[in-house]
Amino acid sequence: MTPTIARTRDELIEARSGVKGTLAFVPTMGALHEGHRSLIRLARRRADAVAVSIFVNPLQFGPDEDFGRYPRTLAADLDICAAEGADLVFAPSRSVMYPDDPQVTIKSGPMGEVVEGASRPGHFDGMLTVVLKLLNLVRPDVAVFGEKDAQQLAMIRRMVADLNVPVEIVGGPTVRESDGLALSSRNRYLSEDERRTALALSRALRAGADASLGGPGAVIAAANVVLDKAATADPPLLLDYLVLVDPATFTAITPPYAGPAVLAVAGRVGATHLIDNVPLQFPEES
Ligand code: PAF
Repeated sequence: MTPTIARTRDELIEARSGVKGTLAFVPTMGALHEGHRSLIRLARRRADAVAVSIFVNPLQFGPDEDFGRYPRTLAADLDICAAEGADLVFAPSRSVMYPDDPQVTIKSGPMGEVVEGASRPGHFDGMLTVVLKLLNLVRPDVAVFGEKDAQQLAMIRRMVADLNVPVEIVGGPTVRESDGLALSSRNRYLSEDERRTALALSRALRAGADASLGGPGAVIAAANVVLDKAATADPPLLLDYLVLVDPATFTAITPPYAGPAVLAVAGRVGATHLIDNVPLQFPEES
């Protein structure tokens, strides 16, 4: 099935009015991979019709980040949307999304300033602003986001609750390569050697998860063993953070602690910034 492609607001309004029943929405920045495919499949199970957006949002990139070189693969992305049975693809230009420099934007609040937000000032403000704009334009019943961006997902849930946005937010599990590397559009920047070093991120998370019976301290210690080794690899992993946080607020967990947690890691290999996380559960205070 070929999806309807809308590039302007008017085309989107027309395509949206033709949707029968409920609509699930998968916002993306394109460069679609198996992780996005799994989100589209999840969306198909949650509603009668599926919309996907493809837009590299300038507002969520810092001045020294990779906005200019972020992969743009629209033709291949449209093929993937068609193969996965999306009904509607919204692929706006920058001037369609931002006809004027926006003056009113979303402020992400305290959660936007910690963990990933601490190393990327303004990133979450820009991300939430475009997500709210997309939700207002597409008007879905359900919106699906990847759990790989766990802090993004938590912040979108918070925005939707705080601002009474009438949409259900659903998280889709992280998809990994067979060796554990989390799928990301940025993986295509990695050379073979860089990719080998980048594997330390998922291995550190695995080591941390395997140590979770020992409590939060043991988790961090086990993950750090893997990350310390990767810091001296060639090329090295430059660690941005390794944190154990509350999944809803992204505030640090301090022992003794019982309940759900997210072990999140980020680092740079060469010029590429990569993130990953794993959900954990501490059944008893430890
Ligand atoms: O996760 C992404 O691809 C982006 O942050 C999103 C949610 C599409 C907003 O630009």
